[in-house]
Amino acid sequence: MTGTEVAPAPPGTRGTVVLLPQTDQLRALHTVIRDRTASRADFVFYSERIIRMLVEEGLGLLPFAPREVRTPVGAVYPGLRFAPDVVGVPIVRAGESMEGGLRAVCRGVRIGKVLIQRDPATKLPRVGGAWLPPDLAGRPVLLLDPMLATGGTAVAAITLLREAGVAEEDIVFVTLISVADGIDAVHTRFPKVRIVTSAIEERLNGNAYMVPGMGDFGDRFFGTDDQGAVTP
Ligand code: PRP
Ligand code: URA
Repeated sequence: MTGTEVAPAPPGTRGTVVLLPQTDQLRALHTVIRDRTASRADFVFYSERIIRMLVEEGLGLLPFAPREVRTPVGAVYPGLRFAPDVVGVPIVRAGESMEGGLRAVCRGVRIGKVLIQRDPATKLPRVGGAWLPPDLAGRPVLLLDPMLATGGTAVAAITLLREAGVAEEDIVFVTLISVADGIDAVHTRFPKVRIVTSAIEERLNGNAYMVPGMGDFGDRFFGTDDQGAVTP
């Protein structure tokens, strides 16, 4: 699958955003998970289907190297080798919803984690910690978080990756839905980071949630919203 590139990039100013093709199938998947009455089982199942598409698209942006193989009939097939040493980094908590999708298609992928929470009042990111493989420099990193709203969380996570030695151009940020504010925030600081998304929302509301959006992704996915919460 090849995504449609939007936000054409004047060199050095704006980065690349890859928007998944807006097919009827994708729209149907979005319809289920955007519905406020969706059951948690449906929310998880259908968001995981979109996540799988996003992860495949993100992996497709990584470099491939030539690799010839000989087929069973003795012919030479001039093929390609997958990018080696891919690292996935979910932003805890909601980004962990994307880890399984990456593991399912990227054999042996190594997984780091960054813990970043958006302050409920200020909406500013609070960094809680990072657990990253030691030798990240030179490796391609898929940074995973389903929501790109103000962009504060993504910028904080990319800052941690840069401090760990990851080059901007080696980072692909994979996010289920996004909005211009967050995309601009990321590309103002890190223009070479590529963003893969399945939707660009209309706007942020006064509470810094995306509109039309899908509410609080982490709560809905993990069942800690009003419908699924367990009171101790
Ligand atoms: C959500 C979401 C992103 C962040 C996006 O996480 O998963 O990490 O908000 O918002 P931003 O672009 O304005 O920073 P939240 O901190 O609510 O925690 P959660 O992962 O536990 O849901
Ligand atoms: N976090 C979410 O879960 N949803 C939004 O719309 C914004 C931030």
